[in-house]
Amino acid sequence: MKKLAVLLAAVMAMTLALTGCGSNSNNSSSVASTGSSASETSSPTPTIDAIKERGKLIMLTEATFAPFEYIENGEVVGADVDIAQEFAKDLGVELEVVDMNFDLLIDSVNAGKGDFAAAGMTVDEERSKQVDFTTKYVKSAQHVIIKKGSGVTADNLDGLVIAVQESTSGDFYATDEINAKEVLRFKSAVEAGTALKSGKCDAVIIDELPAKAIADKSNGELEVLEDKLTDEEYAIACKKGNTDLVEAFNKTLERLMNEGKIDEFVQNHMVVE
Ligand code: ARG
Repeated sequence: MKKLAVLLAAVMAMTLALTGCGSNSNNSSSVASTGSSASETSSPTPTIDAIKERGKLIMLTEATFAPFEYIENGEVVGADVDIAQEFAKDLGVELEVVDMNFDLLIDSVNAGKGDFAAAGMTVDEERSKQVDFTTKYVKSAQHVIIKKGSGVTADNLDGLVIAVQESTSGDFYATDEINAKEVLRFKSAVEAGTALKSGKCDAVIIDELPAKAIADKSNGELEVLEDKLTDEEYAIACKKGNTDLVEAFNKTLERLMNEGKIDEFVQNHMVVE
């Protein structure tokens, strides 16, 4: 397994490379811009030719979402990374992974800060207007995590304090479908789980397998309720109009699905500690 670069190393290397180039202030073609705001600019679409020439495929993600993406020994790993490694292999390039806040992913893809976002991202109408999605590759659902023995049920979340990861489908569900007392929005999924353990909220709403991963790591303090709140599917987000890249990814996804590889990748990262 090849080593993956993580955000900081990548961004710092890019910064050094840029500053090392002297006073050339025009960095508009840089894919790993160090700016923190994902401004909407007319950045060039990363074509397959450009990616091959660069020799590197850049994936954007938010890595607190095991088994799809999480940090292990300082590296971003997970089923989405395994899939992205296959994209890179099929294109004959290296993979680089950039970790950032989930709510910045779509703007960052459109601003050219990476070639695509793979982040257990649910396809929905609003997002489909902003990015082009590949074939759907995983079925998921929102689930409720509670403190064991608290008696909270999935059909009566009204009046409770609910924690979510900001700008995710769990956030949208808690905001739109429940009369919550309060919705606590965290930058990471793991922080939402921590809030539940420390009694800052009554429940967390999050995707099924990440919910299991959080409960599995809670020393038996948390449990995931069986009832699902939604039905969702994940896909990879590319810049709007980047049809060639979507098609290339779809070919790889089709191959992986036929080979049963995607289930295998997910299972490989479901290991309980
Ligand atoms: N599936 C949910 C959504 O798309 C949550 C995804 C969160 N992903 C992550 N890598 N943190 O809104």
